Amino acid sequence: SQTSSLEVPDSAPYRENDEYADVDWDNLGFGLMPTDYMYVNKCGAGQHFGHGQLNPYGNIHLSPSAAVLNYGQGLFEGTKAYRKENGQLLLFRPEQNAIRMKSGAQRMCMEAPSVDQFVNALKQTALANKRWVPPPGKGSLYLRPLLIGSGAVLGLAPAPEYTFLIYASPVRNYFKEGSAPLNLYVEENFDRASRRGTGSVKTISNYAPVRTCTPMDSFLCFFFVSRIQKHVLMAQLRAKKNGFSDVLYLDSATKKNLEEVSSCNIFIAKGRCISTPGTNGTILAGITRKSVIELARDHGYEVQERAVAVDELMEADEVFCTGTAVGVAPVGAITYQNTRMEYKTGSGTICQELYNTLLGIQTGAIEDKKGWIIEI
Ligand code: COI
Repeated sequence: SQTSSLEVPDSAPYRENDEYADVDWDNLGFGLMPTDYMYVNKCGAGQHFGHGQLNPYGNIHLSPSAAVLNYGQGLFEGTKAYRKENGQLLLFRPEQNAIRMKSGAQRMCMEAPSVDQFVNALKQTALANKRWVPPPGKGSLYLRPLLIGSGAVLGLAPAPEYTFLIYASPVRNYFKEGSAPLNLYVEENFDRASRRGTGSVKTISNYAPVRTCTPMDSFLCFFFVSRIQKHVLMAQLRAKKNGFSDVLYLDSATKKNLEEVSSCNIFIAKGRCISTPGTNGTILAGITRKSVIELARDHGYEVQERAVAVDELMEADEVFCTGTAVGVAPVGAITYQNTRMEYKTGSGTICQELYNTLLGIQTGAIEDKKGWIIEI
């Protein structure tokens, strides 16, 4: 076990270690499994981030008055490291996460690490936790960068100090369905984002409100809040009870167009045309989304980024979701206003083709002609 902190070099891997952690790799899900190290770097408001440290993974100290706790001044990212057959680790487009964090930081009035600092920190975190990267074909090491207003404030204002942190956890399939098709429910009572809000920013506050309830949550909510929001919570309770995987949100202004699923973007396919909601300010500009659009065009599909009407779900041949955690996940059914629509899944589908190509590039099985992969 590791106990001491390490100064992080600018380049050059900290550690090469081919021994594996003691993990049941065949039964990996998507949950937190603490690893050896986390990366931590702090900077004052109006200053630049300097060198960070690899600290043993553990709790962090925060003032009760930290801006992130009081006013939600925080951003997160998600990316994965895969292990190649030859033992090298592969990162997928990490600079895209860095760029997104920088632009999110601008929106949230925060200091942000430079693109080089961000990518270097990811490399160091992945290498320091190398024994937790699953064997080829058994999953990946999920890397979670956080940028938080860690300084204390009482009045509403930007924090006087920021903490950039990265922790890691080995993961496999995000949904409990594994790689089986998802069963979605179109949510009409709750909105995910509003026009000119922060729907396109990966701010921490976009996620807690859209999380779907566990049966226990639903049960508690039902008892304690049912007087106020009975109709809303009944819908979620019913959704979970009926075995839905997740919820698909509609635009808050008209309720006529698709937005995204709680944790991922959505695509529909009809013939050789693929459509996905455009990044108009309420949609998260997913890196997997962007990559899948490019791959689909390379494969000869027409891809449209535009307002996608919920009614188009009736006509679609296929529906699939994309995200870092989710990957490219087929949707087998969607229920909207008591109508259940079913879609093609499995071999021969566009979803399967794009899943194979993307995962092939990410894991090194397919040559990376795009320059998307960083080998470490
Ligand atoms: C990811 O896909 O990596 C995300 O950040 C979404 C999160 C809800 C797991």
